Amino acid sequence: MPASFATLLYDLDAASGILTITVNRPDKLNALNAATIEDIGSAFAQAQDDAQVRGIVLTGSGEKAFVAGADIAELAKLDVVAARKASERGQEIFGRIEESHKPVVAAVNGFALGGGCELAMACHMRIAAENARFGQPEVNLGLIPGYGGTQRLAQLVGKGKAIELLLTADMVKADEALRLGLVNHVVPQAELLDFSRQLLARILGKAPLAVGLCLDSVNAYYDQQRHGYQTEAQGFGRCFASDDFKEGTTAFLEKRPAAFTGN
Ligand code: COA
Repeated sequence: MPASFATLLYDLDAASGILTITVNRPDKLNALNAATIEDIGSAFAQAQDDAQVRGIVLTGSGEKAFVAGADIAELAKLDVVAARKASERGQEIFGRIEESHKPVVAAVNGFALGGGCELAMACHMRIAAENARFGQPEVNLGLIPGYGGTQRLAQLVGKGKAIELLLTADMVKADEALRLGLVNHVVPQAELLDFSRQLLARILGKAPLAVGLCLDSVNAYYDQQRHGYQTEAQGFGRCFASDDFKEGTTAFLEKRPAAFTGN
């Protein structure tokens, strides 16, 4: 029986294996206080351990905001030591989302600002509703992003544009986010969750081990402790020990669809 979370909705569709996690503080535009960050960490840990969960959609409650940032009321009370710890903890939890071997799609249904933009960027792919707005407005508050935003924004949109967005605090509309490569697709708000789940469902039809190893290899490039090409070669080798590799190649040669088992 999955645990319940004070700040999140956790909704597993058993038939598809798609879990929808919804940040659920709509009266605060789903702002991330410490309890919400911890709940996100626990929910993703639970999702990793649950074999029924095959892919994850992360979204925000309501039609106005995905997540409007770290909770500014809570931030205002932190001192230097507590702020650094909060940043390290947020980085750790968002890092676990990125490192998940189960694909994670952010369905961005409105404002994705500050920690909300950082949360969306920690996901493997981003689908934006037409009303979505992205930005890192921390410099307006005398702050910098603390949950990986300076790193992942540059990875996604390139260094020059990332620096412009970080330094101006400009908000980017969905169509501009698409042009910049910050999001994968833009769809009408009413179609956002269905579109995100259909994208995941297509991925879930592929060999799960191979999907996980693709994610791991891409992540290795951005991790200074690891070597991307070596990780890819190891992953490539691992695939050859899997039933799904035998099934995928046999199905191709027999001209039939593959039926993957995840083994
Ligand atoms: N932290 C805490 N509370 C937040 C919040 C945040 N990041 N973002 C919004 N809220 C709260 C507001 O304080 C307000 O609460 P209240 O009704 O108790 O006063 C409620 O959510 C609704 O927000 P409001 O500002 O009234 O909505 P709006 O439509 O006028 O403006 C935004 C929307 C997103 C432009 C505006 O809320 C905003 O600028 N938020 C902060 C964004 C930010 O700087 N994020 C980075 C933080 S590091």
